[in-house]
Amino acid sequence: MFVLPCLKCPRLTFPPSRVPWTRLFALRHTMTSETASIVAKSIALVGAGPSGVAAAKYLLAEKAFDKIVLFEQRSRSGGIWNYTADQTAEDLFTIPQINPRSRNKDELWIGNPPYDVARNSNGSGSPHKDISFVSPMYEKLETNIPRGLMGFQDLDWPEDSQLFPTHQTVLQYIDDYGKDIQHLVEYRTQVVNAEPTSNSPHSSWRVRVRHLETSEEQESNFDALIVANGHFIVPFIPDIRDIRDWNTKHAGRIHHSKYYRRPEDYKGLKTIVVGNSASGADISAQVAAHCATPLIWSSKSVSLFSATHSSGKAPRREVPPIKRFIPEKRGVEFEDGTIESNIDAIIFATGYFYSLPFLENVKPALITDGSHVSHTYQHVFFAPQPTLSFLALNQRVIPFPIAEAQASVVARVYSGRLSLPPLAEMQKWEQDTVAEVGNGRNFHLLPFPKDGNYLNAMSQWALSASPRKGLDNEGKGKVPPIWGEWEFWCRENFPAIRRAFGEFGERRHQIKSIGEVGFSFEKSKKEKALIEGEVI
Ligand SMILES: Cc1cc2nc3c(=O)[nH]c(=O)nc-3n(C[C@H](O)[C@H](O)[C@H](O)COP(=O)(O)OP(=O)(O)OC[C@H]3O[C@@H](n4cnc5c(N)ncnc54)[C@H](O)[C@@H]3O)c2cc1C
Ligand SMILES: NC(=O)c1ccc[n+]([C@@H]2O[C@H](COP(=O)([O-])OP(=O)(O)OC[C@H]3O[C@@H](n4cnc5c(N)ncnc54)[C@H](OP(=O)(O)O)[C@@H]3O)[C@@H](O)[C@H]2O)c1
Repeated sequence: MFVLPCLKCPRLTFPPSRVPWTRLFALRHTMTSETASIVAKSIALVGAGPSGVAAAKYLLAEKAFDKIVLFEQRSRSGGIWNYTADQTAEDLFTIPQINPRSRNKDELWIGNPPYDVARNSNGSGSPHKDISFVSPMYEKLETNIPRGLMGFQDLDWPEDSQLFPTHQTVLQYIDDYGKDIQHLVEYRTQVVNAEPTSNSPHSSWRVRVRHLETSEEQESNFDALIVANGHFIVPFIPDIRDIRDWNTKHAGRIHHSKYYRRPEDYKGLKTIVVGNSASGADISAQVAAHCATPLIWSSKSVSLFSATHSSGKAPRREVPPIKRFIPEKRGVEFEDGTIESNIDAIIFATGYFYSLPFLENVKPALITDGSHVSHTYQHVFFAPQPTLSFLALNQRVIPFPIAEAQASVVARVYSGRLSLPPLAEMQKWEQDTVAEVGNGRNFHLLPFPKDGNYLNAMSQWALSASPRKGLDNEGKGKVPPIWGEWEFWCRENFPAIRRAFGEFGERRHQIKSIGEVGFSFEKSKKEKALIEGEVI
């Protein structure tokens, strides 16, 4: 019998006010002989974004694998933090856009004069010609998570970086973090297909890649495949009544946040932004300062991000969802019956589909309606064949440390230091999760405090692995992040902290700490203790 950590175990340190979260992370206390133990020697990773880079570090630290290869289609690591200033169109963008099943994205060849290398952060390769994939970053994107909470476990942000760093700082930060794994990365190499070589739960994976510079394809087998391809590639634009007709008559006026780059593009235009999550909140705030006022902001539910980005003096008028498009008036009718005519621009900040075009041959299907990835265990392992795993599928989380916690488990499972439960138990986890949050968009959402509890449970699971001689930290291996009281406090308060930061206007660039925007962990802890004391 093998003992795994229990969420009620005293070794686990949840902040006192938090009820230990058992529903979404129902780890069993014991594992029987049915437990699947995997020992992989060769590992392929898809994607050298922050999650893939973190995974490579945890894999290396296991000192157990003969071969680790990270396939990355871009020319450098950093994932979507590679800003593509001038790319605002691609074949994925249709109106409406309701198809999650995209094919593998073709690269765009950019440059060969007059390509301005300095403008695109992915222009570090050849100054004349380079491969590029459209990124949803925009010119003035600053993080919406404070740097101390957002970053990796073992790398501080540069001293001079602002509290909510710019996208350029984040890319540099990921570069710095990934310096020691560069020898594992094959750049400009796209994974075009991957499938199991057998029906066994421990099957190896046949991985076909395309070398984008030569278009040559190559196939190799790996014992395990880790997918960190991101999920902000395929945009979603809802199929609202008469949207097609409207777009035909008024082509070029409907946009998606993936292709938004700068607010000046909307100067003087009568603009609607649809969606009030992170993209909708930030983009509407930016555009409101330039477009015809007030900016019209359409949303369908309350969002914690509504409060993260103030639009300052520029007004935004909040309206319900669009019910139908009215082509003859260049207008729209909202669900409350009000009509707006002569619309110049509509930005759909309505999110993305999960998409895995290179795993279309895997059965049972991983992608159905694009709202989540099916058949996972703990959002990570493909339960029927757990030699396939995923990183950072979750949303409403802090992605870098979540990827680290997940990677710490994956690395230990593939090195044989941790085991997985039997298939039936992994499937039950999925069924229980569906029963709790449904089989749609909510599946991978871990709104606070679920995210912190999940992160801690994953990291604790990793740390429960049997120590192995020769590994760092007295045989424990690379230690993943564990959230304590400060992280829970910061996570709970970051929307308000972000808003306060924004209200400093241009002076925000000088702000480096949470204290400077009027928030204090120590103070709030004391206040809470006082209140709790009064209650007792
Ligand atoms: C507009 C926007 C703003 C954001 N702001 C924040 C923020 O402030 N803070 C924060 O923490 N997070 C933010 N995020 C979330 C962001 O997704 C994560 O920070 C992070 O990029 C996730 O890393 P990843 O490695 O999982 O995915 P990605 O960054 O998407 O990287 C995936 C990599 O996989 C590669 N890839 C994909 N398919 C293939 C293939 N078939 N073959 C080879 N390579 C492939 C891609 O080229 C890419 O490099 C933001 C997201 C968006 C869209
Ligand atoms: N650093 C930053 O400041 C920053 C900026 C932008 C994005 N991001 C990140 O980027 C990622 C993606 O965020 P996102 O905002 O693009 O996508 P998202 O979080 O998936 O949000 C999509 C939004 O669209 C809404 N929506 C869908 N259909 C709608 C309709 N018909 N009418 C009105 N609203 C509709 C959804 O509402 P429901 O939820 O009610 O369905 C949801 O609020 C997140 O990780 C986010 O944190 C960060």
